Parts: sequence; structure tokens; C-alpha cells
Amino acid sequence: MCGIVGAVAQRDVVQILLEGLKRLEYRGYDSAGVAVINPAGELGRLRRLGKVQALADAVAEQPLPGGTGIAHTRWATHGEPSEANAHPHVSGDIAVVHNGIIENHETLRDELKAQGYVFTSQTDTEVIAHLVERELKNHDTLLAAVMATRSLLEGAYGMVVIDRNDNNRMIVARSGSPLVVGYGIGEHFVASDQLALLPVTRKFAFLEEGDVAEISRDAVQVFDSNNQPVEREAKESTVEHDAGDKGEFRHYMLKEIYEQPQAIANTLEGRLVADQLNLDALGDLSDIEQVQIIACGTSYHAGMTARYWIEQLAGVACNVEIASEFRYRQSVVRPNSLLVTISQSGETADTLAALRLAKEQGFAKTLTICNVPGSSLVRESDMALMTRAGAEIGVASTKAFTTQLVGLLLLTAALGRGRALDSATEKRIADALTHLPGLIDKALHMNADIEKLAEQFAEKHHALFLGRGDQYPIAMEGALKLKEISYIHAEAYAAGELKHGPLALIDAEMPIVVVAPHNDLVEKLKSNIEEVRARGGELYVFADEAADIRPESNMQVMAVPHCDDIVAPILYTLPLQLLSYHVAVIKGTDVDQPRNLAKSVTVE
Ligand code: G6P
Repeated sequence: MCGIVGAVAQRDVVQILLEGLKRLEYRGYDSAGVAVINPAGELGRLRRLGKVQALADAVAEQPLPGGTGIAHTRWATHGEPSEANAHPHVSGDIAVVHNGIIENHETLRDELKAQGYVFTSQTDTEVIAHLVERELKNHDTLLAAVMATRSLLEGAYGMVVIDRNDNNRMIVARSGSPLVVGYGIGEHFVASDQLALLPVTRKFAFLEEGDVAEISRDAVQVFDSNNQPVEREAKESTVEHDAGDKGEFRHYMLKEIYEQPQAIANTLEGRLVADQLNLDALGDLSDIEQVQIIACGTSYHAGMTARYWIEQLAGVACNVEIASEFRYRQSVVRPNSLLVTISQSGETADTLAALRLAKEQGFAKTLTICNVPGSSLVRESDMALMTRAGAEIGVASTKAFTTQLVGLLLLTAALGRGRALDSATEKRIADALTHLPGLIDKALHMNADIEKLAEQFAEKHHALFLGRGDQYPIAMEGALKLKEISYIHAEAYAAGELKHGPLALIDAEMPIVVVAPHNDLVEKLKSNIEEVRARGGELYVFADEAADIRPESNMQVMAVPHCDDIVAPILYTLPLQLLSYHVAVIKGTDVDQPRNLAKSVTVE
């Protein structure tokens, strides 16, 4: 989703801005632009549809010298992807980049048009540029003009404003979309994500909701939503990331799939010590009577899986809901409820809004299971369980998902202690988690067979994924992965639900993927498999050998290493990730940055 980078320095900043944009590419975007104030006090602006590289090529042909500049990657919301709609937007001497959505932009646009302002784009952002230009006529400083402008805006924004008459200043404002200020020596930076600035600084201050900051080469002055000066402490970042490093892998997604044994070991570090679970960091959850999980996308599937664990192993009632639904419906909060948000990025707008709403609704505690330290969800939740998966660049989430599942299993154990979870079952969880990184490593050996299997999917237009019990959300995740990156329409069904509709779709053109660990439901699942075979469907079954599912006509069976049922949802995710990856590679799609999708969805 949209990315922002800005700089105020003595040196030329355009390459810093472009490198920052490249580091934000993984978030998904459709156009990019940059504006720099040159030494003569003119505003140089270049924008391009498509990749940041196209913008970099344009800059190579038409250099943009100057020490103060702003840059942006746009993911279209208002107005099609086009050069005219790309940021920065300009009004007179003012240039603006903006993330988020201005909800009252139509009213403001009408008002500005009536005052003679001419619009050159279809974006909501352009109203900000004109408003700042207008307010600057009535205010002495750019800071005051931006403060006046934001009082007119409804919706979400992270924005950076520059004025070509002042090459030592940018004004930034945050409301709903994250912004971080980077500290250099005699220079300062701003970005929507600290990853963008890691080549130039490791010292960051996160702006809080409602903050406005005036940033010059020598100073950063932050004001709160009442325009009062506030301190936002700058801290050294611990994030390690080199967006340029795919190592030996062709795509980030494949690299991230292969990182899962290590990522899971990192999640478990200090939490699984000498085969014992150490759950102290989760505090006392003995009062909790109900768990409400909120998330989006892949993270929602992690939540769906956790519901099976939390109710079965911990004996605690658990609901799971998509954040964009939860936030707009009236729900009933039971006493002593724990709200759990799950998010790779910690910045997903709907999940964040749901957390804020939940805090008003009287949840006893809020916990986030998250991968990005310092993100909004981490900062605004009472507790955070960090997944420590490392930076995930591929838009399709892989290691973030399996580490979320590990975190959720730890949460299940913490909830279950003193309740339904006896010590033998806790020992079973600890043992299963101890062996999990090794098992995942083994599952990765299926890669070559899955690559061959993928050829049979490349020409298909639809696919069905089936699972039962805690494998049903894994089937959902498998279907999501396939549609996200290969653009094949895929749906997941709880296998028992087949006969209530989807059986009508079965024919030789419809591949059906089944996840079949050796668990209590395997005999039921076999009956569902027979229902499909009897109707001529092509089956691809990922099965535990002990499940005794043998290849037959129309049915291929891939052996998955044997594991404890409890961690089977985590293990069976692997072959489905590999399957969608190889299908996408064969189809030649943009695996790491699939069309129309964004890594971090910071607008609702
Ligand atoms: C986007 C991403 C998905 C992700 C979802 C939720 O749709 O493309 O991969 O699962 O957002 O993101 P979060 O960061 O909250 O886990």
C-alpha cells in the first residue's frame, strides 16, 4: 500500500528518496513520484506509472538536485492508477504526499473549485495541496497552515508537505496512517515505515495519533492533536532488513517459505526452554473467560485455527471475526474478555480500528500477536506477543502465518493452564513445538515433487481446497495463497459441507486439494474424498502415511511427514505454500508483488 519518504538535508536527497521507495515496494503500489526543491528554489517533480525503477530511470535522465524532497508510492483508491494521479500533488508552491483516505474530499473539492482552484487529478490528496496553499495565505508559517488544514480533514492520513520557498522544512502530520521520523546528523527524514530509512539512520521516533511535526535539518519539533509541543522519544531501531537481499532464491516468497524453520525457532526462543513452555510474558490470564480474535486476510486464518486450539485444549470460549466486519457491527462483550488482534504488519487499518473500538467496549485486556516491533498495534495493545519472523517482503504471507500459529499455540497453553489443559497435554504441546522446526525442514523436501505437481494446475481456472476441523482454516489459507499469486479462482470448504453445494462444481476440470493429517476426523475425510472421486473430480491429497490414503485413479497422494495432531495445521501449511508458489512461477505472475494487492493495508 502507499509509501512515504521525505528528507531535509544539506546533501542531494533524491537517491535516498528513491532507495526508500524501493524498500517500500513490497507493500504493493501502482505508481511512484518524487518532488525536490532545487537550489534555485524551484520544485522539480517526476512521476511515473508502474515500478519505482521507471521513476529512477526518469531521474537519471532528468536529475533532481536539492536537499529537501518528498517521495511516494501510490496504491490507487480514488482515481485510476495514472501519472496524473500519482503523488506528489502540487498547488502553487506547495507539494504534498499522502497515505490514507480523506473522506470529505468531495465537499472540500467543491468548495475549492468554487474558490478558483483547478484540479489536475481525481485523487482525494489533491484537496490537501490546495487547502495548504489556501491556508498559507492566512497563516504566517507552513506549520500553522498545515495545522489549520488538518482541522478541515475527515478520514485517515499520514502526510508530508513542503513549500518551495523554504528548503529547510517539511511538515508532517499523522492521523490513522503511520509515520516515523528518522534522525541523522544535521539531517532528518520521515517515512511511513522505518525500513525505508535504514540506509541513512537507525534512530527513530514514532509519531502518535494526531501528531504534527516540523522537521528541519537541525530540529524536530512535535505537536500533539491540540497543537501543544510534545516529546516523542527517538530510539535505536533493532530491525534488521536488507530489502535487496533475496540470497540464492528467485523470489522473496520462496526465501521466506524456506526461512520458516528458523523463524519458528526464533518465535520459540525463551518461550520453550529445556522442553518446558515459559509463558510468563503473557501474564496472568486466569480471569479470562472469553477470547475474541480479530484479524484480516492470512492473519484471520491464523485466528480461525486458534479457535480450535483455544476451545479444545484450553477450554475457553473463543470467537474469531474479520476486523472490517467486527468494527461496523454491534457486538456483545462478555465480562472478562480478552481481545486478541493478529497482524503481520501491525498497521492494518481495519484491525487497528477494531482494537480502538474494542478498548471502548470494555474488554478486560488486549493482546496483539504481531511481527513488527513498534507498530501501531503493538504500541496500542496492553500486551504484545512478537512473532519474530523477521521482515516479510513477499505480499503473500508465509512465515508470518506459521509463526503467528506458533504464538497462538503458546497463548492457548497460557490460557489453558489451571483449566482444561493438563500437564500431560502441555508436555505434548512443548514436545510437538520442540520438533516443529525440524519437521518443517523435512516438509520442505517435498518441494521438487510439488513443483512437478504444480504443472497440472497452471491451466486450470478454478480449484477447491478441503479440510476438516483445524485443517479447514489451513485449506482456506491454501486457497487464499493460490488466488493471491496465481490468479486462479480458489475456494476452501469444510469437507463435510461439500454435499451442500460445491459438489455440483466437481468435474475433471476442477482440481481438489485435500489436507489429511492422521487425526480423529480422517475417516470422515476419506468419505468426503470418495464423494469427490465418485463424481470424476481430480484429487491431490496431502496426507500423513498413517492416514492410509492410497493413490487411486484420479487421486494423487503426497506424503507429509508424520507429526502430532496439535501442530499439524502448521506443518500442512507448507506444501500448500509451495504449491501456490510453483503454480504462480509457471504462470509467470509477479509472485512477490501480485497485481492489485498490498502488503500492508493501511486504508480501510
Ligand atoms: C494484506 C496482505 C495479506 C495479509 C493482510 C493482513 O491483505 O496482502 O498478506 O494477510 O493484509 O495483514 P496483517 O499485516 O494485518 O497481517
